[in-house]
Amino acid sequence: MQFNHPAGVLPQLKEDFHEVSPHPHSHHILHDRFGTSRGHVAATHITFVGSPLSTTGNSDFRRLRDCCPRLQEVDLRRSLCQALPPNALFACHRLQTLLLPDSLQSIGARACYACDSLTTLILPPGVTEVGDEAFAGCRRLRSLTLSGRPKLGRLTFAGLDSLQEIQVSAAVPPPAHPSTFLGLRGRSLRLRVPRGSEQAYRTAPGWSLLYEADEDAAQPAGPLGLLPAPDSLVQTGGTLLLRHLGGIEADPSLTNEYQHALQLLATRTTYRPGRGRARLLLRVDSTYSRHTDEAYRLEVTTRGICITGGSPRGVFWGLMTLSQLLDTPDPEARCSALPTLVITDQPRTALRELMVDPARIFISLDDLRPFVVEMARYKFNALHLHLVDDQAWRIEIKSYPLLTEQGSSRVGMDDMPLQISGYYTQEEMRDFVAFAARYHVEIIPEIEMPGHEVAAIHCYPRLTCGGQQVPLRTTCGVSNELLCPGEEFVYEFLGNVFRELSTVFPSRYIHLGGDEAGNPPLGCWTHCAKCDSLRHALGITTTDGSENWRLQDYLFRRVIDTLRTQYDKVPMFWYETDFREIPAGCITFAWRHGLTAAAIRAAVDNGARIMLCPGEHCYLDYPAAAGDMPEVNWGMPVTTLEQTYRLDPAWGFGADFEEAHLMGVAGTLWSECIPSVERLYYMAFPRAMALAEAGWSAARRRCWEDFQRRAERQMQQQAARRLLHPTAR
Ligand code: ACM
Ligand code: ZN
Repeated sequence: MQFNHPAGVLPQLKEDFHEVSPHPHSHHILHDRFGTSRGHVAATHITFVGSPLSTTGNSDFRRLRDCCPRLQEVDLRRSLCQALPPNALFACHRLQTLLLPDSLQSIGARACYACDSLTTLILPPGVTEVGDEAFAGCRRLRSLTLSGRPKLGRLTFAGLDSLQEIQVSAAVPPPAHPSTFLGLRGRSLRLRVPRGSEQAYRTAPGWSLLYEADEDAAQPAGPLGLLPAPDSLVQTGGTLLLRHLGGIEADPSLTNEYQHALQLLATRTTYRPGRGRARLLLRVDSTYSRHTDEAYRLEVTTRGICITGGSPRGVFWGLMTLSQLLDTPDPEARCSALPTLVITDQPRTALRELMVDPARIFISLDDLRPFVVEMARYKFNALHLHLVDDQAWRIEIKSYPLLTEQGSSRVGMDDMPLQISGYYTQEEMRDFVAFAARYHVEIIPEIEMPGHEVAAIHCYPRLTCGGQQVPLRTTCGVSNELLCPGEEFVYEFLGNVFRELSTVFPSRYIHLGGDEAGNPPLGCWTHCAKCDSLRHALGITTTDGSENWRLQDYLFRRVIDTLRTQYDKVPMFWYETDFREIPAGCITFAWRHGLTAAAIRAAVDNGARIMLCPGEHCYLDYPAAAGDMPEVNWGMPVTTLEQTYRLDPAWGFGADFEEAHLMGVAGTLWSECIPSVERLYYMAFPRAMALAEAGWSAARRRCWEDFQRRAERQMQQQAARRLLHPTAR
């Protein structure tokens, strides 16, 4: 450690923070507790002394994690800290050194999850418990010392790809979960234990894995726990031994599905091509279901597996079901046997999407690829990308290069002093769209209007009424600048944007936003001469506020006309009650708390279709429990897993509404408080599993108690997948 205090500093330390040795490249500060000071934001090395760090709300740990983006070293040895709370330093990617105090007694779940710059770790002797996934994914950790005999949780040290040495002082092996060291099996690793206790470690739960050879372990499938629950499943009492599978036969239209099937069998089962006589058959039968081309039938017999789908999509969902059937209790084992069964299945709703928001905090396409794969496992069929907002513009538009040159980089998201930069080139996005299509996940772009457009206005001020440049927004909330409906350049701009995007996104859908452009922002149209001329030209004479909604209606109708006539697109909107007319043929999203019934009535009255993503069930960016991440936010309510699960996609409106108007379900992941891809997964799952089941499974197949059991197993499998195969395709 390269940290030397000037003599005499420690005893006098009383102030909030004290700068010890400022240096151009490292900024050391010494704290007893964070107060209101923001001096810590540039800190690379922080030493805490004295009173324990706070652990709730905007705690010391939350600020270390979210507000110190340059942090390399945290020294707690002289603090009286007794606990590292759950998620304390979750995904602090730059943290290289963590020095723990002798007073420490417990380390919470995921406390240092994916701190993938840490290289050494010494757990003090007083630590009695280290929670689930506490150091999972610390991929550069080379040396681990356990001085005491702590109880070790599920996946606590899983996915430590660089670990070379574990040193343990306890003669009796610390109690460990079988998955504590997942991923370390067969690694050349030095395990130093007290003389005479090696035999005890060799056979102890969890520890024994470190002595096992990396042979191809095989196991029969675990208990069935399909998620989303299929429409019908009948077990027929036999067993298919997967080593008897010798080949795959697929219809010619199923080359993509054939590749997925091959990958599935080759990596997850004891299948040996050419050996056995059993077959995996993939078939398309377009007459299979009258309702949807996503329906499929999956049959496992002692002679093989047959998946018949109404289309390649249906076959693919059958393969995703097969993939879950192949899950083994030990996630590193290959599946050796499946129970024979017949599954017939189809989705309840047509469009099942998650929305990701790279505008507030950028997320790379490399990070989104595995996310798409996880979505597909639960039969989501769309990823909605919120590509522009007040804080950034994230998609290359060749006609307007400033959008990404000047509109895609800023410092700060609320109190997080992060450098947030990045955009997707059209070519990268085409690649991503093609990747997702192989998983039957379509990418739906969203270009907001007339509000949430500050990034575009920042680059091209002519887009707004005042024509003044405004800075990129660095906080959450709603800005008062809107596109000006009376300015012809707005239509030219949007026309060019859509022309370019039509060559990037093949989806039939395009989301046009439309949210939160009511009052007060709409007031900017009241005093604009161009808006005035337009009102005049349109014969709008009201002065009760409706005049501006009519302007918005005009703007949308022009844009929709372009999208329909030139690009054959179906526009989508966030529903706002003030804007009562939903243009024919468009799709509206019910999102506001308490207004779902009103949105549904408007959809029915307008003959429109509706996506359900009411905040109280579907806003997955909200904390899932009080005090959970994001601990600091703009006042988000809690959306529990059970609330998400209890979403009724028909909202009690019955079968006729569902048949004629319900389009599907959506979960949002607005990213104001999602500063890393790890946080994206943390917020999304398991609630996205609950939403997947709400959108896919028939009401009679859903059961909250049973779901919890299945979701727990799915979460364990997902955690293991992500730790063992972080870039799995
Ligand atoms: C929204 O959450 N503003 C759609
Ligand atoms: Zn105007």
